[in-house]
Amino acid sequence: MDDVLQNIMDHAVAVAREAGQVVREALCDEKQRDVMTKSSTVDLVTQTDQRVEHLIIQSVKKKFPTHRFIGEESVAAGEACVLTDDPTWIIDPIDGTTNFVHSFPFVAVSIGFSVDKKIQFGVVYSCLEDKMFTARRVKEHSVTENHLMLFSSISDVRRSIIATEFGSNRETETVEKIFSSLRNILNIPVHGVRGAGTAAVNMCLVASGCVEAYYEVGVHVWDVAAGSVIVEEAGGVLMDVEGGPVDLMSRRIVAANNGTVAHIVKEIDAFSPTRDDAP
Ligand code: IPD
Repeated sequence: MDDVLQNIMDHAVAVAREAGQVVREALCDEKQRDVMTKSSTVDLVTQTDQRVEHLIIQSVKKKFPTHRFIGEESVAAGEACVLTDDPTWIIDPIDGTTNFVHSFPFVAVSIGFSVDKKIQFGVVYSCLEDKMFTARRVKEHSVTENHLMLFSSISDVRRSIIATEFGSNRETETVEKIFSSLRNILNIPVHGVRGAGTAAVNMCLVASGCVEAYYEVGVHVWDVAAGSVIVEEAGGVLMDVEGGPVDLMSRRIVAANNGTVAHIVKEIDAFSPTRDDAP
């Protein structure tokens, strides 16, 4: 199984690079960044998101015809978002679509691969930075390219940087809760709060020790599947925003180095968006 999985992962890395090249080229062409909207007027999608997802799925289907897919844009087009025990590719073709539209320089291709409902490996290609983050479920096989993993051992939350995002839900009650959590965290006080504009890159920032924790309510499984294994294999922990075990379909996540996680969880004003796998 080990070699089989390595072969699949090698393909994921290759196709992520190919997809990243398409994204970089599209950035130079205004037409490829024309905006359409999804769940709200600030939930953006472009033809490039759709094109890149198609490219990844077609390439995988050719090599692994029995594998299944959960892709952000396929789900937006009406496909079910159901994780089975079958080998499944969980794809966000452009994580950070708003960044892509505005040329804000953090845009990632995110690919998680699951078997028996467990993420086996994750590939996050931050394609404008040209940084490839990969990890496999088995610790000895954790790999990164182009950068050093400098996982943070800070346990005093007052010395931490926390990453989060504002998401794309602008309902008053949701915005209130997001600001309430942010206020609590700033008041700890922490050294700073940051957000790259992509969940996948935020998780890689945790894995690389650039931030001590990342939390968000409102993410989707395709935003965090790959990052989840990258964080865990770097030595980090994943948790639900109310402190229980993480559920990647729940749209709630905390990813942290061990030291700061407990402090963050108690400051988050939690809420529950509709699950990704809701019928
Ligand atoms: C979004 C980004 C953003 C996060 C949202 C995600 P998308 O993904 O990861 O940082 O705040 O929750 O949906 O739409 O750019 O693929």
